[in-house]
Amino acid sequence: MTDLDPGLNLPRWKRVWLGIDSRTRLRERRGRTSRRCKPGQRGNDSARFFREWLRNPVATAAVAPSGDALVALITREIGGWTGPVLELGPGTGVFTRALIARGVEERNLTLVERNPAFAQLLRERHPHASILVADAGELQTAIGADVSPFGAVVCGLGLRNMKPALIEAILSGAFARMRPGAAFYLFTYGRRCSVPGEILDRLGLHARRIGIAYRNLPPASVFRLTRS
Ligand SMILES: C[S@@+](CC[C@H](N)C(=O)[O-])C[C@H]1O[C@@H](n2cnc3c(N)ncnc32)[C@H](O)[C@@H]1O
Repeated sequence: MTDLDPGLNLPRWKRVWLGIDSRTRLRERRGRTSRRCKPGQRGNDSARFFREWLRNPVATAAVAPSGDALVALITREIGGWTGPVLELGPGTGVFTRALIARGVEERNLTLVERNPAFAQLLRERHPHASILVADAGELQTAIGADVSPFGAVVCGLGLRNMKPALIEAILSGAFARMRPGAAFYLFTYGRRCSVPGEILDRLGLHARRIGIAYRNLPPASVFRLTRS
């Protein structure tokens, strides 16, 4: 059995049954392995996320990483053409992986994550990205002055759990480091934008909902904030 040609044209079930191939290797050979997650990674990440939520439910703000529908929606307007991208609250990196799959180079990613356990995981997975263990409310000091302006910001923070002053600090810090015309993407559970109207007005920002991920649990809206 060992000298069976792996290229033999057997049906999939027979290749797995004969032990020539695993389902995963078959998917890899056909180029169908998800670019979002390695096999088994999703389960590990969910367990890790849940542990962090038990330790600090308010900051973690969700019991599990965002689902595929939300990941696709929040990253869909970003690609290699966007240039440097800032991600706030990446957690286990579901948005990060999607951004890379969409053509954003790892070295063009700056990830700001306050939880050191998540930051360490991201460092192992994305060694060329710039990973800062910092508070998103202190972007001006956390991000070096020499870093090029960002073409987009993806925000995974639970803004609804935050005080208005912190939300305002996050947005003003982010927009100060963005290119003119660049967009800030955020998600929220529910239909209304999680940034209070007075803050948007004070910072001269315009919020537009770009879609709802109904298949996310719970369903989430994605908003694009721009400065007019
Ligand atoms: C709701 S989770 C989202 C994680 C990931 N983006 C996702 O969608 O699966 C929020 C993340 O933001 C991080 N976080 C919370 N407050 C933060 C802050 N002030 N600065 C930076 N990161 C923060 C948490 O540690 C957590 O990883």
